[in-house]
Amino acid sequence: MLEIEGLQKSYGKVKALEGIDLHVAPGEVCGLIGPNGAGKTTLVSVVTGLRDADAGSVRVAGLDAASNRKGIRGIIGCAPQELGLYPTISVRANMEFFGRWNGVRGRRLSTRIEEVADALDLASLLDRRAGDLSGGQKRRLHTGLAMLHAPRLLFLDEPTVGADVVARMRLLEAVKRISSQGCTVVYATHYLAEIESLGASVAVLEAGRIRERGPLAEVVARHGQSRAELEFSGDAPRLAGWQQKGSRLSIVTADPASATAAAIAKLNGEASRLRGVRIVPASLESAYLAITGHGPDIMEENNAQA
Ligand SMILES: Nc1ncnc2c1ncn2[C@@H]1O[C@H](COP(=O)(O)OP(=O)(O)O)[C@@H](O)[C@H]1O
Ligand SMILES: [Mg+2]
Repeated sequence: MLEIEGLQKSYGKVKALEGIDLHVAPGEVCGLIGPNGAGKTTLVSVVTGLRDADAGSVRVAGLDAASNRKGIRGIIGCAPQELGLYPTISVRANMEFFGRWNGVRGRRLSTRIEEVADALDLASLLDRRAGDLSGGQKRRLHTGLAMLHAPRLLFLDEPTVGADVVARMRLLEAVKRISSQGCTVVYATHYLAEIESLGASVAVLEAGRIRERGPLAEVVARHGQSRAELEFSGDAPRLAGWQQKGSRLSIVTADPASATAAAIAKLNGEASRLRGVRIVPASLESAYLAITGHGPDIMEENNAQA
């Protein structure tokens, strides 16, 4: 559905994309993840034609994007990172405007407005002024505007920024639904839990390059690190193979349950000071940190603060 080859883009001296190769299959949800400044928004902008590439090629549904701008316009939908709504007109009027802009008219337009409003829980808001919506509602409308023409390839750039927990869950549900109807989705985010919830495939973008690409389970299996932690009252005892820090022992291992059982058997008299045991399975987060060159330490520090 989407074939990107050797894509490069610079802003003056800043190289935002340093040769991106990325293929996304029909019906796939591709989670484009990476830290701020990785190049996610630049990639989405170039692929959707909002910016010109310096080099490389993009094919959408087999069509060369550069020479078929018009042809692919009806195929692609994009909700950019920056909100784009008309605040002084109603939600419905926004949808009518963007729908027409993308070639949807007449009865089909009213049907699509109803369907999209349903999918994104906007039905009760259709007559409200867009500018009066909450942050999460605006984000849902902004996402819905990209879907009105039922694109076969949808780009969502940080679609849940500013959305509360419920709004986020609804949006993820809507993405799952349109994906189950055959729409291909490129979902840029730095919220890794959303990628896990979507069951998306993963493309890790960092400093303008794709660092890793594959199905979620494979990426986690390849790079994810599971670990175990033992918490003591007072300073943790020393134990071979385990890292001691304050009241905690921790170990990064493929088999944290066995490591924990073996450790407990070796504790002897110290066992009475054991206060807690935690098994942390390999996650996309640990894989992501490993891929982007951070060890598991950063997660432990994070957990210690939590
Ligand atoms: N309009 C612009 N002018 C100059 N530099 C930009 C512009 N947009 C993005 N950049 C730079 O390009 C790099 C990639 O940015 P961006 O694509 O927004 O990353 P992301 O969406 O992953 O946070 C960053 O170094 C950013 O500062
Ligand atoms: Mg961005």
